[in-house]
Amino acid sequence: MAEISGSVVKVDHGPKVRGEARFVADYPMEGILYGKTLRSDRARAKIQAINVPELPMGYVVADARDVPGKNGVLIIGDDTPVFAAETVEFVGDPIAMVAGPDEAEVERILREIEVEYEDLEPVLDMRKSEKVFYEYGYEKGEVDKAFAEADKVYEEILQTGHQEHGYLETQGITVVPLAGGKVKVHGSIQCPYYVRKALVLALGIEPGDIQVIQDVTGGGFGGKEDYPSMIGARVAVTALKAGKPVRVVYDRREDMATTSKRHPTYSVYKAAVKDGKVTAMDIDLLYNAGAYTTISMVVLQRGTICSNGVYNIPHMRAHGRSVKTNSVPNGAFRGFGAPQVFFAVEMFMAHIAKDLGVDPVAFKEAHFVKKGDKTSTNGIFHHGVPLPQMNEKLLTASDYWAKREAYASQPKGRYQRGIGMSYSFHGGGFTGTGERDIIKAVAALQKYPDGKVEILTSGTEMGQGLFTTFAKIVAKELDCPIDQIIVKLPDTDRVPDSGPTVASRSIMVVGELLRRAAAKIKAEWKDGEAQRVEERFQQPEWQIPFNYDTFQGDAYPTFSWGAHCVEIEVDTYTGEQKVIGAWACYDVGTPIDTTVVIGQMEGGFLQGIGYAHMEQMNYDKKGRIRSNSYSDYTMPTAADVPKMEMHLCVEEYPEGPFGAKGAGELPLVGVPGAYVNALEQAIDKDFCHIPVTMEDTLTHWREGGQA
Ligand code: MTE
Ligand code: MOS
Repeated sequence: MAEISGSVVKVDHGPKVRGEARFVADYPMEGILYGKTLRSDRARAKIQAINVPELPMGYVVADARDVPGKNGVLIIGDDTPVFAAETVEFVGDPIAMVAGPDEAEVERILREIEVEYEDLEPVLDMRKSEKVFYEYGYEKGEVDKAFAEADKVYEEILQTGHQEHGYLETQGITVVPLAGGKVKVHGSIQCPYYVRKALVLALGIEPGDIQVIQDVTGGGFGGKEDYPSMIGARVAVTALKAGKPVRVVYDRREDMATTSKRHPTYSVYKAAVKDGKVTAMDIDLLYNAGAYTTISMVVLQRGTICSNGVYNIPHMRAHGRSVKTNSVPNGAFRGFGAPQVFFAVEMFMAHIAKDLGVDPVAFKEAHFVKKGDKTSTNGIFHHGVPLPQMNEKLLTASDYWAKREAYASQPKGRYQRGIGMSYSFHGGGFTGTGERDIIKAVAALQKYPDGKVEILTSGTEMGQGLFTTFAKIVAKELDCPIDQIIVKLPDTDRVPDSGPTVASRSIMVVGELLRRAAAKIKAEWKDGEAQRVEERFQQPEWQIPFNYDTFQGDAYPTFSWGAHCVEIEVDTYTGEQKVIGAWACYDVGTPIDTTVVIGQMEGGFLQGIGYAHMEQMNYDKKGRIRSNSYSDYTMPTAADVPKMEMHLCVEEYPEGPFGAKGAGELPLVGVPGAYVNALEQAIDKDFCHIPVTMEDTLTHWREGGQA
């Protein structure tokens, strides 16, 4: 392991464990108004009137008419209204905001506002959607020919459900109008510059008049990528109308029922098999975007590109659509459109193997991509692909072959066991040429006369250890102790725009800029003087430019790799599924801090287990989310943590700091495939959807399946 990989105490650890860290809800409320959101209780309707009762002194109600700029929250498109004006498009669509000094009084006013609607027929089933937001497709090789020449053709429909982020801290933002028309925003934010950009449009003021600061944040997982822009715009409009600071902090129910989630999908996979190998795939993907576009465009791009998983399919066609429904807009969630397709392709490959009478692991291994192979989009896997070594490691660690054989012929009894494996990758950074053409990251280091060096980036800490790993990278390059390095919560008035903290890009992209800046500062070091160095992103020369129209080229410069093994036991009396063994091997390049990386692995793996079988979000016929609390939406808790064995395999990335690649999302992405394959063996039934819940196993037996 590289020297840098040894672990240190996290730089943000002290204040958090001592309870001194200030989250947005911890700021005193003196002089700040409580804000609450009036939301649609219809999935689709025309707004005919908003009747507001007489307001006591000091209270305000803001709605679409009060938006000084454009009534659109700029995310990628700006179709998400700040406040719904003519129509509401989902249950929970914000119509107005009430603010005032007394929280109970604000709630009373909220209850007394009457909205008159003219109901319209909502579309809740994505297959019946009337509107395609985005559509992408690409083709490589000769797909039709391969199907025509196949020995056998397979087709399967695979479906995935919603997933709720379940960050510990709910969404919250404070907006403070300052003298001279400036606006200061602070809160639980993943991407401060995104919030600033959204406020420029909604408030119609200059970027320089908006200051956005991240407060200590209790988890994001993608859920605080776009959403703070929406709350930020709403609170800002209300604060400007009131002429006073306003704070909004959601309670758990509001957060679960109205903020973004993982896109559910409905996918049709077809494969041509010749001489025991998959020669072609034809893939059709449908992503349920919900009511507005938010970031469905990039979620769909990643999903479509990754739809063949870690397999070299010489002839393939992929087509993806992201469609509107009258439900909560779905957004980013760890993996960004990829976990859906990795589940689909892993199950599809396992089911083909079963039909061919071969073990899924051997079948999948025979199709693994390797260095130099073409990617789905005719890019190249430029760097080493350690899948075979990772696979070997797990087969040994889990004793897969012996268990797989034993469970195949286990006697029928109350407890049935199974074991399964799955494989995944995660492309680091923005898709295509996004880093070069859209993000254009800038990172800076400021050296002070006393020799301390401050990191200046817009990178946010959400528990993923970024402040620590950034500090380690700079300290290592400067060859100084880590306590010489200063990292503060990002403030757009002080830090350059190094891009959003998404797409597992921070260490690989921004970390490398910091390393280069540190090398420069070291070379030019002048004792006792202030110095500042800035570095800008440059796309590696060998990267094949990606064409967004044809979906051809390198979608990602490099990939992180994952292999997973899950062993489960099912209680045939209760239907209960229990993980009794969990192994994974991940290649994230050089781990910048082993404890941080293992933390990411274990947490991500567990989120994958939840996604596979526990987390189910239900809507009723009127489009209302019923699973709006932790008692209705079960997520893995400490009690569900199995014994997890995490292994690392290091394939250094020459363009990443000290050889590091992205680590943040990878560990969740491929887990459900292993879980469901283990379940299939345990109860001898194939599944094509997640979550596969306890009720699903019970239904299987009720319908005549053998226990
Ligand atoms: N880990 C923790 N503890 N909390 C989080 O909110 N977000 C994940 C991942 N790991 C998250 C996390 C997501 S969705 C991403 S994109 C990455 O961290 C972002 O951080 P990185 O760029 O530093 O990997
Ligand atoms: Mo992560 S889903 O890219 O915020």
